[in-house]
Amino acid sequence: MKALRKAVILGTGFSVPDKVITNDDLARMVDTSDEWIKTRTGIHERRIISDGDSLFQLSLPAARQAVANARLAPEEIDLIIFATFTPDYQVPATACMIQNALGCTRAGAFDMQAACSGFVYGSTIASQFVATGTYNNVLVIGGDVTTRILDFNDRNSCVLFGDGVGAAVFAPAKDNETGVIDNLLGAIGSGAEYIIIKNGGSMHRPTVEAIQNREHYLTINGKEVFKFSTKIVGDIIEEVLKRNNMTLDQISLIVPHQANIRIIESAAKRFDCPMEKFYVNIQRYGNTVAASIPLALHEALLEGRISKGDNIILVGFGGGLTYGLQLIKWGDYTKPTV
Ligand code: ACO
Repeated sequence: MKALRKAVILGTGFSVPDKVITNDDLARMVDTSDEWIKTRTGIHERRIISDGDSLFQLSLPAARQAVANARLAPEEIDLIIFATFTPDYQVPATACMIQNALGCTRAGAFDMQAACSGFVYGSTIASQFVATGTYNNVLVIGGDVTTRILDFNDRNSCVLFGDGVGAAVFAPAKDNETGVIDNLLGAIGSGAEYIIIKNGGSMHRPTVEAIQNREHYLTINGKEVFKFSTKIVGDIIEEVLKRNNMTLDQISLIVPHQANIRIIESAAKRFDCPMEKFYVNIQRYGNTVAASIPLALHEALLEGRISKGDNIILVGFGGGLTYGLQLIKWGDYTKPTV
């Protein structure tokens, strides 16, 4: 095996649909209110793709922007990893459609699924490929169009999610000092039932009855997932800091999965640190599943919240149940303009 290298993020990209759904819009569909959604989740509005649009179409500008911001040509991308639980099709992989449309002629391409932890799972795989020297430039896309699998009669789920895509290109650090310091991935499969789409996979043949029973829609046990999420975020931040002999003071910014503002507030409370340590954009987009962390990362970069040499943490959690964390010393990066 070749000597290990450090992987940095060279470029990022961002794409959300134009169409906004407000809490008041949802209150006209189900028994809820703007006040309940804002106070219980922190979400003010979210984006929704239009009929006729698709995850692939939404992803293309984000992927293209990440490659352009990395100052690379599409042919220089070696691998495309697409984290999503709402691919356009079961087969082919949406990553292959992106590979073709972008002109990444040399790239392998696959989809992977770890729900809201998907981007951190994908970025961990990417950084390993870069570290071993197998690949130089790996494009990781995190994207979901969850509104396509939401039951807009179910107030427990339909108020939480929105659509979006974020992307990042991982490449070897020139200085070999900056880059990914550590990764942690985990799962608690005993909680699999808490976030589930009961039908539409290969477990059951499709039937009219299943559709009538709304089994192709996402269901979530919010209470159980909330308990898991509030504990795991703090636990894994603590674990990774400890094994790297670091303290939270050495971390400039935490980019958490945006599921509920109260989950982020509870992590800030546990560490007795200001909320400014956490990047938050849930109010504008809701929970965009695999897109949530790269969307937040891109916006944090646009706002100048991350500089070279900063230690940052990406932390995800969600369906599976899965969780993941990536600790990065930020490297050379040209700030995106859009
Ligand atoms: N509007 C009004 N009332 C509502 C709504 C709504 N949209 N949704 C639920 N309620 C009601 C419930 O029915 C319940 O009523 P009851 O007491 O009469 O039964 C009441 O509000 C309180 O319900 P709780 O579940 O206790 O509400 P809570 O404060 O926990 O908030 C929420 C619910 C927002 C879903 C929260 O539990 C949560 O954010 N969970 C975690 C989500 C998460 O982490 N997701 C990440 C993974 S997602 C993925 O991987 C795809």
